[in-house]
Parts: sequence; structure tokens; C-alpha cells
Amino acid sequence: MPNPGKLTNQHVDQFCEILGTEFVLLDQETLEHFSHDQTEDLRFLPEVVVKPRTAEEISAILKICNQDLIPVTPRGAGTGLSGGALPHLGGVLLSTERMNCILEIDERNLQVITEPGVITEILQNAVKAKKLFYPPDPSSRGSCFIGGNVAENSGGPKAVKYGVVKDYVLNLEVVLPTGEIIWTGSNVIKNVTGYNLTQLLVGSEGTLGIVTKIVLKLIPLPTHDLLMLVPFRNLEQAGEAVNAIFRAGFTPSALELIEIDALRIVSKMVDDTAVPITDDTAAHLIIEVDGNDPDVLMREMEAIGELLTQYDIGEIYFAENVTQKERLWKLRRRVAEAVKLVGYTIEEDTVVPRAELPTLIRELKVLGQKHRIDVVCYGHAGDGNLHVRLRKEGTPNSYGDPEMKKILTELFEIVYRLGGTISAEHGIGLIQKEFMPIVFQEKSLDLMRAIKTVFDPNNILNAGKGI
Ligand code: LAC
Ligand code: ZN
Repeated sequence: MPNPGKLTNQHVDQFCEILGTEFVLLDQETLEHFSHDQTEDLRFLPEVVVKPRTAEEISAILKICNQDLIPVTPRGAGTGLSGGALPHLGGVLLSTERMNCILEIDERNLQVITEPGVITEILQNAVKAKKLFYPPDPSSRGSCFIGGNVAENSGGPKAVKYGVVKDYVLNLEVVLPTGEIIWTGSNVIKNVTGYNLTQLLVGSEGTLGIVTKIVLKLIPLPTHDLLMLVPFRNLEQAGEAVNAIFRAGFTPSALELIEIDALRIVSKMVDDTAVPITDDTAAHLIIEVDGNDPDVLMREMEAIGELLTQYDIGEIYFAENVTQKERLWKLRRRVAEAVKLVGYTIEEDTVVPRAELPTLIRELKVLGQKHRIDVVCYGHAGDGNLHVRLRKEGTPNSYGDPEMKKILTELFEIVYRLGGTISAEHGIGLIQKEFMPIVFQEKSLDLMRAIKTVFDPNNILNAGKGI
């Protein structure tokens, strides 16, 4: 791969000609703002920040960068947890924040066409107003961008019933690193016409192209949901119960686990005791069902509650109304932020086949004791997707830390042995890259590198990320 080129004043002048000076930023405060995302405590200053409005403007910028080998880091809202938006090589930081229009809600076909800089929750509410549903709901949905969700193939609690972003993306307009603007497919639900470029772009973490229009499938909005919270006295049993729920034939619309330490921390941060915390509780399961018939849902909830009495559980708490539901979901969504604030900076995104969840939980705790680190877990238990937060005094980052590398290698070897992998919904980005050989053969990695070269022969776009 060629060495990165040097950004000069002449490049900056060219960007100003394309975008107008107000959208080419060099001041220290802006550079500092774009130097970090939500990943650990990592900071890398870009040399310039550009804020294009159109695919054509992005194309013009990429053509210049491609010719002069200037690194470009695309960025959505900066809520990522694997460092995908960190400009670790300096160069150009390209923000999609001005591309924030929902272009069309197609009620005839149950589709939406949107630009990438739309906040996910705004998109969800816009389609909800037409009784339509776009389910993927990452915890950061109130601030993350739909374009970032496509880049990371995000998930969230609803994935357990409704799938992740890839299950909704039908077609993408993409600017390639060499400047061409392409569409990857068609706005259709079934498509076996050629290689699946659409799905290749989904989850490619801004390494193959910059997505500028997104066509998403929608589904009818379910009219009712019920939510309950079940305290468990034993963490592993909570994992076992998750499997029992599915084996008994239920498909909840969310099945989340929060270990008690995480709940204590987040309850304190948001100053809400919506969930009573007792000393003998080890973890809670949050269980939601949704559909159109409230009586059916109530019977389903009661049957799940009955099933769970075989475990050592405390009193089940039903959220009675919308306010109580929202309070519970707020606690769950803000766990990551809360535990980070108290020093659990390193977040992992492990995923195993669901039945292996109790074993993963057990081995995780053993690993923590062995290395004398604090380990707390929470996440999408119904998907076998457990977020593991680690805290070690004086170690805010895993990236570049040899001791953390050793511990994480052990963690990922456990995950791999259990049939799982190292990221379910946060991506590989910058910080997980070195662990890819644990889960992939060299030949598979070679294929990925070859794909990158076809799309980005000069390695300018989010170089050094993902693979
Ligand atoms: C969550 C994010 C961190 O599940 O993925 O809270
Ligand atoms: Zn998550």
C-alpha cells in the first residue's frame, strides 16, 4: 500500500472551492470535537474537517484525496464503540451531519429513502407517524445516525425478534473512494441479480465507500407491547432462563440482561430507582413482547413468568404504563454511558450461540478474577450478544496496551471456542482489528483485503480499520 500523502493548504483551498469556506473547518475546537467518538478514551486529531451536503461534493473531495493519497475518515454522529470514526492517520475528517433529510416515505411499497445523517430515532418516529416500523434500535438511537448504523450493521434490543440493520437495507447510493457514485442494487425485497454489493457495504465500516442514500424496508407497526423485569439471584441462571424462553416457543421483542452492578451504576447516574435493587439480586432480565392483540400478549407474558418460576427469581415487576416502560428502557439504554463514566472504559461486544451464554458468563467471571480486573456485563442476551465492560485501574484504553491485549485475546479465544465471534453489532473499527486472526483463517482475511483493494486501490478511505 502506498504511504499516506501530506495534506497541504492547496488541498484545503480546493475543499473550500467545492463546499464553501464555512464547511471546511480547521479551528482547534472543531478538530478536538472530531478527535474522539464513544470508544474508550481514544483521541486522534484530524487535520481538517469537511461537511459536504451532496454525493457530488463527496465525490469531488474523494477524487482529490485519492489522487494525492490523503487519508479520509467518514463519520456519522460519533457514537461508535470500536473506533470506526477515529481519524487515527490525521488527514480529512468527513462528517455526514448536513446530509440529514428523509427523502421519501413510500407507503405503497413500505419503504423509506433517507440520507445518512438522519438521527435513527427521528427516522423511526417519522415512519411511525404513518403506522410503519423500522425496528433496529441501538441504545444510542436518540443521537446516532442511520448512516453510521448501516456502516456498522447495528442491532439493539429489538434485533432478537426483528433482525438487525442488514435485514432492512434494500439498496444504497455510495460514493467510492475513487469518486464514482454508484447504486448497489434495486429497491426490491428479493434480489439475486449479481453479487450482493448492498450487503457487502452494510457493516463495511466506511472502508469501501461513503453511503449517501439508503433505501430501507419497513414493516407494519405493532400496536401493543408489554414489558416485565425479572430479578435473578444467580447470573448464570439468568442466561439459562433466556434459552428456556426460546425453547418453550416464545419470541420476545426484547430479551435483555443487566448485571446488578451495571444497574446500580446507571440508576445512580440517571437518579431513578425505577427498579428496586436488593442485595440478593445478581441480574435482571428485561422481557418485552409485542403484537396486535393485548390479550394474547398478556397470556404470553404470564406463561413466560410461570416458566421462570423454576429458577431462583425475586418478585416480577410489570411496567404498567408507557411512563414506566420508558423509565425502564431509559435505564437500559444508558448503561453503557453510565459504566464508562465510573471507569469501565473498555467495552466488548461478544456474541455466542445463545445456548452457550451461561458458559460465557461463567468463564468471563473466572477471567476477571484471574487478571484482577472488574468485569460487568449487560446486553442482548436473547441474541447471545453480551457486552462486557472491563475496568483496570490506570488503563483507560485497550488499544496499544499489551496487558489488555493479552486479556482480550483470552476472552476472544473463549468466545471462539464457544462458537461465537468478537463483534455482534459494534464492528471491528480500530480497536478490534488485531484480534481478527482469532476468528478468521488467513485465507478469509486475504479475501477481505483483496475486496478492500478493488474498492480502494490507494487505501485512502478509513485505512487501517475493519480488516
Ligand atoms: C448497548 C450498546 C452499547 O447495547 O450496544 O447498550
Ligand atoms: Zn448493544
